[in-house]
Amino acid sequence: MSELQPTKTILRLHLPTDPRWVNIAEKNIEDILVDHAYCEQKAATSAISLIVKYPDKTRLVDELTDLVAEEWSHFEGVLEQLKKRGFGLGRNRPDEYVVELAKHIRKGNKRERQLMDHLLVNALIEARSCERFKLLWKNIQDEELQKFYYELMVSEAGHYVSFIKLAKEYMPAEEVDARLNELLQIEADIIRNLEPRPDRMH
Ligand SMILES: [Fe+2]
Ligand SMILES: [Fe+2]
Repeated sequence: MSELQPTKTILRLHLPTDPRWVNIAEKNIEDILVDHAYCEQKAATSAISLIVKYPDKTRLVDELTDLVAEEWSHFEGVLEQLKKRGFGLGRNRPDEYVVELAKHIRKGNKRERQLMDHLLVNALIEARSCERFKLLWKNIQDEELQKFYYELMVSEAGHYVSFIKLAKEYMPAEEVDARLNELLQIEADIIRNLEPRPDRMH
């Protein structure tokens, strides 16, 4: 199995996940899977919202249409893992991590700047999810889930790259890189302030 290195070098996350999180997660796999299913749903919903908001941006519409299909197939995959273990979908829980991060999408009349922020926030959610899938892949005991999380890790790493590329399609590359650096710091601060929780992917 070739190993991606979704660490700081590719994903550029400033703060690694607390290693205690995997042990906590494995003991609460029903909650983690339910929360994960909704993460996939939110990823699909967020991409659909961007398509609806920016229908004039053809490349974005094309790329995100493919991404929505992939996120929905991830949702189906998580649902299947839940069913195999005798669990149902369960209720959606608020995702404080995403809510905090989304506060940094600047509003106002600069449409492209808002789009860039939105794409970069989505990129960071992909990066953090990818990092957590890597932890699960490498540490969880259940072999089927190991394989499942490995595949998701690879897919979300691709989404991370796509979101940054899309941002650079509509805004100058140096502005995107500068904003990405700011948001990476903000993301690290959010993670630092959130206790690892037994029932959350983030
Ligand atoms: Fe996904
Ligand atoms: Fe994704």
